[in-house]
Formats: sequence, C-alpha cells, structure tokens
Amino acid sequence: MVSFKSFLTATTLASAVLAIPHNGHSHKHRSTHVASKRSSGSKRGAAYNSASTVHTLSSGASGNGTVSWAYDWNMYVDGSLPSNVEYVPMLWGSKMFTGWLAAIEVALASGSSYILGFNEPDASYQASMTPSEAATSYKNYITPYSGKAKLVTPAVTSSTTEGEGLSWMKSFLSDCSSCEMSVLAVHWYGTTADEFKSFVQEAMQVADDYGLEETWVTEFALTSDMSAGGDTTSGADFLDEVLPWLDSQSGVGRYAYFMCADGYLLSGEELSASGKSYVA
Ligand code: BGC
Repeated sequence: MVSFKSFLTATTLASAVLAIPHNGHSHKHRSTHVASKRSSGSKRGAAYNSASTVHTLSSGASGNGTVSWAYDWNMYVDGSLPSNVEYVPMLWGSKMFTGWLAAIEVALASGSSYILGFNEPDASYQASMTPSEAATSYKNYITPYSGKAKLVTPAVTSSTTEGEGLSWMKSFLSDCSSCEMSVLAVHWYGTTADEFKSFVQEAMQVADDYGLEETWVTEFALTSDMSAGGDTTSGADFLDEVLPWLDSQSGVGRYAYFMCADGYLLSGEELSASGKSYVA
C-alpha cells in the first residue's frame, strides 16, 4: 500500500501549512535507562520486510552509513539480520495483540533494547486508533516491558490535519503520561529537505515539551524518489543533505529511510542511487 500511502501523505502535505505552535506542555515522562546494545554509533537503520535485503544494504556500508538497527513493522526478525544490526520489534496495532506476549519475550531475550509502538495510529489505513484507545493498549501491552527496554511512542504521520500527525501525538502523550516512554517516533513524506528539517524540528520540540529523551524518524522519503524506484539523483541529493543534518542533531536518536527493499534503497540485488547515499 506504499503508493497509496505516499499519495495520501503528499496530498496532505501539499495542502497544509507546516507550522503548528507548540503548546508548552511540560508533562515529564518517567523513563528507564537501559543500555543500548547497538554496536556502532550510527543512527541509521533499515526498515525492511525481508531480512536478506538488510544484508545487501549493509554490505558496502561504512562510517556513518553503517546500519546499526532494523525493524520490519513486526514482532519477529523473520530470518536473520547481519550480526551487528539490532532488531527492534514493533507492536504494529491491534491485529498483533494475539501473539505479542510470546514474541516480545523472544525479541528481548535476543538483545532488542527498544520497543516500537503502533504504526501510524493516526491514519485510518494503518493502525487506526484514537489517542485514548492507543494509550490504553500501550499501557496493557508495552509499558510492562519498561524495565527491560526503552519504549518508543507510536509513530505518527506528518499530516498537519488537526487530530492527525503531531496533533494526535500530543493528545496521546497527555493520555499516556504514565506509559514510561522515552522516545518519540514520527514518519515524514514530502518534497523538500527544508520541509523535512522543519518537521523533524517540530517533532523534537514536542518530545522536549513532554519530557521524552529523543526523537526517531522511523519512516521518511522524498515522494518523488519513492515513485521513481529510489534511483533518482534528487533522492540521492536529498539524502546527502539531510543525513549529515540528522546525524548532527543531538535530539535525533535513530532514523530509517523508506525502505530497505527492491525499488527503494535497493535496485535488484544492488544499491539504488538513494541506497548508495544512504550507506555512504
Ligand atoms: C505497513 C507495513 C509494511 C510496510 C512496508 C507500512 O506502511 O504498515 O505493514 O510492512 O509499510 O511495506
């Protein structure tokens, strides 16, 4: 459903104004401090469906481009990741509540030090939950692991419609003030590096206002690059500009470009133009 999503997100962005005033909330979330097992200092991650693609992306990576973590919108690795890549499980939404308790124990036992919350609960075509429903489910399914991993909020879209995006996130953070989260997660699809940076800055401000330690951008892409298979110079140029910026932001903990798959960061068994920039 990728093209549907990118179309929707691009449409929303194009018709919206980016500036959302932050409201000065200062709820402080208690957070646990669990040592991260990530094996390199890299913030870069792989959002994948097939673990073999992460091996392709990782081979040829060096320095900041080293992929240190990966997630598959799921609670199982489903295959094996390169040994220096930390798997981060996600509780995608209500369709995964059955099976979660067994799956999360396996992920934690194999070294995952973070847990990702619901996927785009602010979107009807993704996890689709109200902030208060999400808070209740978060407390039931994820908060109990706060002593074993750092907890990441649900990941919201970059929609600027009231009740979606960071607006949804603020309601959720108010409703989930006892949820023990320490990381804010957002997604972004759009058309320019400047838009991207101002969205991430807004997200970091929300994280700060609600006492969260860091912000993760767990999906992002230039919409034109997605529709062109990751092989555009504009996608590569976009990454060349925003990756050093993300790396320099102390409030940004981790990020993952959409996505580690053929037609995106990969072109068949090779790196696409964007893929080359991503792991450089
Ligand atoms: C979906 C995931 C899917 C991913 C990659 C996301 O929008 O929520 O279930 O794995 O896209 O295709």
